[in-house]
Amino acid sequence: PLTTTGDLITRAAAAHSAVASFNVITLEHVEAVVAGAESVRAPVVLQVSENAVKFRGGQLLPLARAAVAVAERAAVPVALHLDHVQSDALLHQTADAGFSSVMYDAARLPYAENLTATRAAVDRAHARGLWIEAELGQIGGKNGRPPLDAHAPGARTDPDEARAFVADSGVDALAVAIGSSHAMTTRTAALDHALLKRLSAALDVPLVLHGSSGVPDDELRAAVAGGITKVNIGTALNIALTGAIRDFLADRPEAVDPRSYLTLAREAMTRTVARTLKALGSATA
Ligand code: G3H
Ligand code: ZN
Repeated sequence: PLTTTGDLITRAAAAHSAVASFNVITLEHVEAVVAGAESVRAPVVLQVSENAVKFRGGQLLPLARAAVAVAERAAVPVALHLDHVQSDALLHQTADAGFSSVMYDAARLPYAENLTATRAAVDRAHARGLWIEAELGQIGGKNGRPPLDAHAPGARTDPDEARAFVADSGVDALAVAIGSSHAMTTRTAALDHALLKRLSAALDVPLVLHGSSGVPDDELRAAVAGGITKVNIGTALNIALTGAIRDFLADRPEAVDPRSYLTLAREAMTRTVARTLKALGSATA
C-alpha cells in the first residue's frame, strides 16, 4: 500500500536501520522497484527527481499517477518522494501528486543563501503536510571560493554548520556529504565514517546518503550502522536497465518489439533492487 516517507523513516530510525529510496525514470523502473521490494518483503521509497520531471517535458503527473497506482497495489509499504527539487512550482505540486515528501536542493548555494531558501521551502512543505529533506555539502562562499557540488568526491559536510543549519531551517532530515558522489558507475567510493560519527552525534534528524550506487555493500552497511537512515540509489538501476538492453540488442539487432528487451531490463532492475535491499538489511524474506 501507499504510505508516507515520514512513517518509513521514523520506523527505520527506531530500528537503527535504513530505508532504500530508488530513483525512478520510467514505468519500468517503478514496477521493478516495487517487484524487487515485494520479493524480499521490504518497505521502499520511490523517488522522482526534478531532472526526471524535466525529461517528461516538465510534467510530474504522468509518472506520479503511475507510481501511485503501482504503490497502492503493492504488497509492501511504498512511499513517494520528490528528489533534488529546486523549483518552487514543482514543490507546490508535490502533495497533490500523491507524494508525502520532498528533498529541496539548494546545496549549490553559499551557506546563508542555502539556509534562506531551505527555510522558505520547509515552511511551504510543512504547510502541506510534507516531510522535507535538505542538503548541506561543502560550505560555499568562504574566501570567495564557489562551493563544490555538494556530492562531489571532495565535498564534506561540517558538523557544526550542519547543526546550525538543521536548527535554523527546521528540516526533517539532512543529506550529508561524506564521500559519496552521484552517478558513479563503479562501486569504489570510500566513506568518511569518522565524519559520519561526528555528524550523527551533532544532529538529531535522520541523515541521508546520496550517490549510493557508487558505495560498496560493506561501506553501505557501515554507513547505516553509523547513522544513515535513508539511502538513495539511482544509477545502479540504470546500469542494470541499459546493460540488459545493450546485451539483448547485441545478440538480436533485428528485434523491434520493445517488450522483448524492456522485460529483461525490468527483471535486471528488479534483481538490483532485491540485492540492494538484502545488502542494506531491509529484507524480511
Ligand atoms: O538522489 C539520488 C541519489 O543520490 C542517487 O545517486 O544515482 O549515484 O545512486 P546515484
Ligand atoms: Zn542525490
